[in-house]
Amino acid sequence: MKTLIIYATKYGTTEKCALKLEERIVESKAINVNEIDINDFLKADRIILGSSVYAGQIRKELKKFVTKNENRLLKKKLSIFLCGMQKGIEQEKAINLNFSEEMKQHANVINYVGGAYQLEKCNFLERLAVKVIAKATESKEEIDYDKLYELV
Ligand SMILES: Cc1cc2nc3c(=O)[nH]c(=O)nc-3n(C[C@H](O)[C@H](O)[C@H](O)COP(=O)(O)O)c2cc1C
Repeated sequence: MKTLIIYATKYGTTEKCALKLEERIVESKAINVNEIDINDFLKADRIILGSSVYAGQIRKELKKFVTKNENRLLKKKLSIFLCGMQKGIEQEKAINLNFSEEMKQHANVINYVGGAYQLEKCNFLERLAVKVIAKATESKEEIDYDKLYELV
């Protein structure tokens, strides 16, 4: 296994994207950051980080992993994808807010790849936020596979 795809997800969209990458990248393995085997991480030549974005923030378990391992990550080939439904400048803001200058410089690709609203899985407050802020009243999936597969 040469490429380790480390992801954090709440309702499964980021996991779905990570598994699509795993299918397409030879000698790769996708793993939830909560279940990571540190030896797999140390041995991998290339790391792909993936997280969903909520209220502008990546998932805290991935943020914690990145903070703890930033020096190691900076010594490996690195790509990053974010799942989220925001467009344009909000995507840039989320990238800037969540990753250091060094990480941004070092990663060969940092792509926002779209995501999904799965309202049936959301709690009341999340549904309300989606309705009020994003004006979405139905579940929908908008994964940008072209952007995702740029990481292959
Ligand atoms: C309460 C809530 C807040 C969200 N906030 C953002 C956001 O700030 N930026 C964004 O791009 N997407 C946002 N989204 C969309 C999610 O990132 C999107 O649904 C994503 O696909 C979730 O992936 P996951 O199932 O892997 O957690 C939000 C969704 C919910 C339900």
